[in-house]
Amino acid sequence: MLTVRSLGHACYMLSAGGFSVILDPFLSGNPDAVCGADEVTVKAVLPSHGHGDHFGDTIAIAKRLGCPVIACAELAGYCARAGCKTVGMHIGGQRGFEFGTVKLTQAWHGSAMTVGDKVEYVGPAVGFLVTMDGVTVYFAGDTGLFGDMRLIGDEGVDVAILPIGDNYTMGPKDALRAVEFLRPKVVIPTHYHAFEAIRQDPGAFAAEVEKQGARCVVLGPGEAITA
Ligand code: NI
Ligand code: MN
Repeated sequence: MLTVRSLGHACYMLSAGGFSVILDPFLSGNPDAVCGADEVTVKAVLPSHGHGDHFGDTIAIAKRLGCPVIACAELAGYCARAGCKTVGMHIGGQRGFEFGTVKLTQAWHGSAMTVGDKVEYVGPAVGFLVTMDGVTVYFAGDTGLFGDMRLIGDEGVDVAILPIGDNYTMGPKDALRAVEFLRPKVVIPTHYHAFEAIRQDPGAFAAEVEKQGARCVVLGPGEAITA
């Protein structure tokens, strides 16, 4: 059994077997955040890319808890230089941890870290396949639709967390095609509310997903499902 909890915008906590990890921990400054960065207890922090609405409080959480940042090698290097414990991986690579396994997937999106007027290269944006207690979650991160989601689907996805906000990522129409490619048991739409440019109606999207025969759960900030 695995619990997926929405903490607001694209931030999720996955918990199983007494372990928790946090994905894209944008909490400080997130209008939809349900808790502060100092309130989470996790075994690892998984940022999908360097944009502020995803990378967020990665460094603060990892340093406070002494837990690793698991990310693509370039972003992990940035975190290591900031004093964090890190595990650098890259697209296609999988690795086992105490809490489960993590595999990095491609994502069609940009990634850079902007500090003051300096822009630092932090590798490509990625998605994550996280398996805990036998349940596999595909967290797409920020991405456009891509046909190789079929290959990700072949791995057996139980829960797919997919952006539907359009403008910066897939919109609802492309996300429906993603569901077709991924064939997950449960779909959770994400990245559709925190900013004006990405506002979408998740209920309308959910109705379309259900027509395809998959279960769609709209998780408001603070809400959770167990899969
Ligand atoms: Ni982004
Ligand atoms: Mn984003």
